[in-house]
Amino acid sequence: MSGFPATRLRRLRRTEGLRSLVRETELDAGRFVLPIFVCEGRGRREPIDGLPEIDRVSVDLLADELAEVVELGLGGVLLFGVPDDKDEAASGAYEADGIVPRAIQAAKERAPDLPVITDVCLCSYSTHGHCGLVHDGEIVNDLSIELIARAALTHAEAGADLVAPSDMMDGRVAAIRSSLDAEGYEQVGIVSYAAKYASAFYGPFREAAASTPSFGDRRGYQLDPANRREALREVALDLEEAADIVMVKPAMAYLDVVSAVRARVDVPVAAYSTSGEYAMVKAAAERGWVDERQAALEQLVGIRRAGADMIVTYWAKQAARWL
Ligand code: PBG
Ligand code: ZN
Repeated sequence: MSGFPATRLRRLRRTEGLRSLVRETELDAGRFVLPIFVCEGRGRREPIDGLPEIDRVSVDLLADELAEVVELGLGGVLLFGVPDDKDEAASGAYEADGIVPRAIQAAKERAPDLPVITDVCLCSYSTHGHCGLVHDGEIVNDLSIELIARAALTHAEAGADLVAPSDMMDGRVAAIRSSLDAEGYEQVGIVSYAAKYASAFYGPFREAAASTPSFGDRRGYQLDPANRREALREVALDLEEAADIVMVKPAMAYLDVVSAVRARVDVPVAAYSTSGEYAMVKAAAERGWVDERQAALEQLVGIRRAGADMIVTYWAKQAARWL
């Protein structure tokens, strides 16, 4: 005897106890990574339009921020540097005493066991705001990856556990791996933003990191939102180049990609729930159109269900409190 009326799926949905007993996917704060924007100066804490509850903080205020992160049991932090001064060559991105290396040192002093991941890119350090160097209006690849590898090395020297290149230049994972290994940082891992799409859901981030391109857009290096097979090629190449963790970004509109990557590879998969995905819910919640807690947790569990092992999310602290 199968099927209705003998079979009734509602039986196991009847009480919270039963639902909890058969739940397939758990949310756990230890799988959340909080992005942190670090700026110059002292005692500086600035709100970011479009990212409510996320501030830019100066290095000296990072300790407070991290105390909370540790107390909530988050899985780690992802550091972004927001320098005051920029130049054509993005030199702030690869200075040994740059903003991110100083932030890493502060983080490691305050919370030595907390995994510190650093975003590695040129865009927030350059006057043109592109993720690579610009020559005659073109974003050049091979010179860019040399600088990106140098930037990653400064993060490794300062004590980063994992470096996360987000530039989408070809060959950057290999370039980073060989420069880290050549300098004795073979223990530092690479989280590759392997499948990073040219997306409208990065809006508030670009204000937060002051990284809006001054001309053109990023479609010449980030993936076309229409392509999934190409994402799998990116992932395969990054793994050949020895990426330790691969990331899909954004998350919500790309859950099929998360799931396809999960099915294809055995390394940990990360998904980045981006600034625009967060801002949409915040804005709708402010108007009373959606319940923020429920909407956020639904997004997060959906991303886990699709196959992500870890989620970079601006809700990390809030969600940890909700769970
Ligand atoms: C830049 C970078 C971006 C994000 C992370 N690193 C934006 C972009 O590519 O324009 C987006 C993060 C977010 O929107 O939350 N390399
Ligand atoms: Zn960039």
